[in-house]
Amino acid sequence: MATFPRIFVFLFLFFFSAALQFSQSLGANEGPYKELMSYGFPLGLLPTGVSSYTINRTSGVFSLHLGESCRVTLPPDNYLATYSPTITGKIVENRIAELQGISVRAFFKWWGITGIRSSGQDLVFEVGVVTAKYPSKNFDRSPDCEGRRSASS
Ligand SMILES: *[C@@H]1O[C@H](CO)[C@@H](O)[C@H](O)[C@H]1NC(C)=O
Repeated sequence: MATFPRIFVFLFLFFFSAALQFSQSLGANEGPYKELMSYGFPLGLLPTGVSSYTINRTSGVFSLHLGESCRVTLPPDNYLATYSPTITGKIVENRIAELQGISVRAFFKWWGITGIRSSGQDLVFEVGVVTAKYPSKNFDRSPDCEGRRSASS
């Protein structure tokens, strides 16, 4: 009986397990970003390092878990924003409502962002009844949490 050269077996196992790990980490890291984009939002609304998420596609109710709170500086006006370890809300095509867990610093105060709407070109952030509009292209990449290395790099 011919034995398969051991090196091939080794190489096969090596690449197979590497491919498996790669697809698993893609699944864990890309899921929430892809999901966000499928609802018409740019992925840069979320910082890097979302560890897990759940979504009910019928009701749109979601929750995201970052492991710990995260602080980022948002373009273009360098607003400071914080993400709580858990972010919840309700998402439908082009609209996030009942949002909890994202705050922005402006006018010497922290404001909880309660909703976000997307028109494709622009994002409209809602803080209660007050709104602010920014081009979506400012959010085409996920910011890294300050003082924490990105889990994906
Ligand atoms: C998802 O939402 C729908 C509509 O609100 C509800 O009927 C269903 O039970 C929810 N599913 C889960 C798994 O929570």
